Amino acid sequence: MSANIAETERRREAARMGGGQKRIDAQHAKGKLTARERLEILLDEGSFEEIDTYVEHNCVDFGMDENHIPGDGVVTGSGTINGRLVYVFSQDFTVFGGSLSERHAEKICKVMDTAMKLGAPVIGLNDSGGARIQEGVASLGGYAEVFQRNVLASGVIPQLSLIMGPCAGGAVYSPAMTDFIFMVEDSSYMFVTGPDVVKTVTNEVVTQEELGGASTHTTKTSVADLACENDIVALLQARDFFDFLPLSNRDEVPERPTNDPWDRLEESLDTIIPDNANQPYDMHEVIRKTVDEGDFFEVQPRHAANIICGFGRVEGRSVGIVANQPMVLAGVLDINSAKKAARFVRFCDAFNIPIITFVEVPGFLPGTAQEHNGIIKHGAKLLFAYAEATVPKITVITRKAYGGAYDVMASKHLRGDLNYAWPTAEIAVMGAKGAVEIIFRNLDEEGIAQKTKEYEDRFANPFVAASKGFIDEVIMPHSTRRRVALGLRKLRNKELANPWKKHDNIPL
Ligand code: HXC
Repeated sequence: MSANIAETERRREAARMGGGQKRIDAQHAKGKLTARERLEILLDEGSFEEIDTYVEHNCVDFGMDENHIPGDGVVTGSGTINGRLVYVFSQDFTVFGGSLSERHAEKICKVMDTAMKLGAPVIGLNDSGGARIQEGVASLGGYAEVFQRNVLASGVIPQLSLIMGPCAGGAVYSPAMTDFIFMVEDSSYMFVTGPDVVKTVTNEVVTQEELGGASTHTTKTSVADLACENDIVALLQARDFFDFLPLSNRDEVPERPTNDPWDRLEESLDTIIPDNANQPYDMHEVIRKTVDEGDFFEVQPRHAANIICGFGRVEGRSVGIVANQPMVLAGVLDINSAKKAARFVRFCDAFNIPIITFVEVPGFLPGTAQEHNGIIKHGAKLLFAYAEATVPKITVITRKAYGGAYDVMASKHLRGDLNYAWPTAEIAVMGAKGAVEIIFRNLDEEGIAQKTKEYEDRFANPFVAASKGFIDEVIMPHSTRRRVALGLRKLRNKELANPWKKHDNIPL
């Protein structure tokens, strides 16, 4: 008996050492943690329960039958984050470069299948040289098995990817199909083909970092949601982020105690809107003053910053926030902001997270670049996402809500549940001067100024919309949090369903 126990201990220890001390040291020398060290930070202390510790590859080619390492390059299992269940896989770069073999893929699939069955999120820590070259097509099959599960799990359980090393070739498509991606600066990259192939095919010279590093993917491409300084920051951010998410689409939003009074009044919001309608203000301030303890987790903060998306809480319960940001491009809607917010709205709707929308939008961005790149199709994504969403939707128009963009931003007409406006709201087809120049083409400058003033007096307010019931109430800025909290309470048991369909056909 004791010999058996000793043998098990020996095997466990061997598995824990992965590819051996030398490779662990090499991993540390690159500023990276090992697969198991990462899990220790991500999960509550002592909560990790590993499975499939002794799985080995089944490859016999290229001398691989002589070369077995228990676990086969990925550590899998479950644990808790602040007491809530999560399934994890963590690729071990010290074992065959974290490359994906058939068995490695089977381990990931087992975790995903179990998480789906039990209704718990999956967090994947990616650090891999891609397909296990010695296994060839068996590895490709393994990837496809993972992809298939990513798709089936989408909208059922939240899926989060942390890219903490290489992630290249077709391997990028697994994280790409998860809900959110965090990347580590300088040590992670994602691309379909690397710099060498790029050079051969297009003659472009580009570094790994420029081609697919954290900065590129969180500014230009929007492939990733957050760039983190190092492994530890990424893992701690993932913990914070996880706390906002329900465990599955069958689960309620998480609730946690807060000391922030639900009816806290914020007098400072009464003066946040500048007198000059063209002067911006920071919408982050409005958001922070509305949510519990000012705690707001923004996603994609460096991409399409003219729209803000992220999670907060009201009375301890998660909410998704979408807000036009007047500080960037005057808060205009363009291709990138529409795509960014549409995906966020759909995530919230899939997981029963109420959506609060703050509106300050002068319209859609004009120009050939926008038109020729398909603002019609991409703008429609956000409209579609809001219109199909059945979760509680509360909208607060702080100032401008012009034209089609007024309709898009969770208006009453798209089944907004509570549509509020501040007294500073201006809800109209367009800005006063532009409107007058169209309907009074032949007037001189003085005439235009006079008609502009008339148009402003008539339309630059929330009361025309309120008189039609498009705005449920004109509220005082200082009572925004109180109104939102009361609204969310009332909407907790909201029931609304869309007509039966196999799935919709959102403009992709
Ligand atoms: C098997 C691999 C491997 C792989 C790395 N290793 N990648 N083993 N299959 N894909 C092994 C190395 O042999 C080495 O073993 C160890 O991992 C560490 O690799 P190094 O090269 O020493 O590390 P580093 O210098 O940091 O470079 C990392 C790397 C490089 C950039 C990822 O290893 C690399 O270019 N690997 C090949 C990448 C690749 O072409 N993958 C297939 C892509 S196609 P030892 O024993 O020396 O420690 C693909 C298709 C997916 O992924 C399709 C899905 C649909």
